[in-house]
Amino acid sequence: MTTVAIIVAAGKGERTGSSVPKQFAPLAGRPMLCWSHAALAAHPAIDRVVVVIGEGQDALLAEALPGVIGVCGGATRRESVARGLAAIAGADRVLIHDAARPFVTAAVIDRLLAALDSHEGAIPTLPVADTLVAADGANVPRAGLARVQTPQAFSFESIVKAHADWQGDEPTDDAQMVRALGGSIALVQGDAMLEKVTFAEDFAAAQARIGWDTRTATGFDVHRLEDGEELWLGGVKIPHHQGLSGHSDADVALHALTDALLGTIAAGDIGQHFPPSDPQWRGAESGQFLQHAASLIAARGGEISFIDVTIICEAPKIGPHRGTIQARIAELLGLSTDRVSVKATTTERLGFTGRGEGIAAQAAATVRVPGVSL
Ligand code: CTP
Ligand code: MG
Repeated sequence: MTTVAIIVAAGKGERTGSSVPKQFAPLAGRPMLCWSHAALAAHPAIDRVVVVIGEGQDALLAEALPGVIGVCGGATRRESVARGLAAIAGADRVLIHDAARPFVTAAVIDRLLAALDSHEGAIPTLPVADTLVAADGANVPRAGLARVQTPQAFSFESIVKAHADWQGDEPTDDAQMVRALGGSIALVQGDAMLEKVTFAEDFAAAQARIGWDTRTATGFDVHRLEDGEELWLGGVKIPHHQGLSGHSDADVALHALTDALLGTIAAGDIGQHFPPSDPQWRGAESGQFLQHAASLIAARGGEISFIDVTIICEAPKIGPHRGTIQARIAELLGLSTDRVSVKATTTERLGFTGRGEGIAAQAAATVRVPGVSL
């Protein structure tokens, strides 16, 4: 039995007022379409996901989902679905989903597919909680009413026939077409996560629905002090009779900080991303390592909340440079300085830092990332 999901993403998203059609606009760090595509593609019962896009949206699709080829949609949602159906001949079951509903849960898919055992179609619904009135203000009894969401599931045969035979006005979903032919449609429990993004303000509400995860991670690094080297600390060149040696500029503070940032998204450590064995990092400015870690967090839809770095050395004195270092790190990360803490300490002349053989740094970073990851 072959089950295919069709995501209709061929609309213009005019009601959002944004220049980019909403399905390609960023939501929690990804184009909105990526969220439902990932959820449907990951479901074990779904064999294939087909994306229907509008004319001229190929570049947007290529950027959002590299390697995914879109089916060209039509002027209306119904036409876009019909073109998707035409592209999946031979399927047994189909799930039809709006890209405008980014967060699809596996539980809803399970309920829909289970209902197909005994029905031609199945739709997720939620109860109406608000009091309803007609345009003239007359009360509309809400008992027995439900709000309809997508994905909607159908036997392939029923939905293809329903589309071919449809005569009425432009339908707002697919189930009504199957029902018009006498097909039975099961109502299964929907999910508040499936709420549609229609207007500009719905983006913030969608982000709030998946919530944020707060993560904290730490980093630590040491480099040796040697004659004839420059001393770079926190992206600032500091006058001193010795400098730190290492493959890159050996900026111990930025290295500790980079590791802390990588740690927040469990992305390994600086040596994995910038191997010391790779000649291209010889003498490299460590600011780029830090910015790379920050870009990985941004790509996850994350934001840096706060960073804290401690430089451990006997000399030079860090105090006079603290503000410059703080400003430089803030600049590298595009943060306000009140989110960047720079501290220094000695080890009371004990150990390798106390003897001036090297400088150590430790850092902590706190970020928030969308509460659900792809
Ligand atoms: N859709 C489609 N083809 C169309 C129109 C809509 O594939 N010709 C898709 C949209 O991309 C969306 C879903 O159908 O995923 C639901 O439509 P809607 O929320 O109305 O999206 P848009 O039509 O893009 O938005 P608007 O009506 O505000 O322009
Ligand atoms: Mg529309």
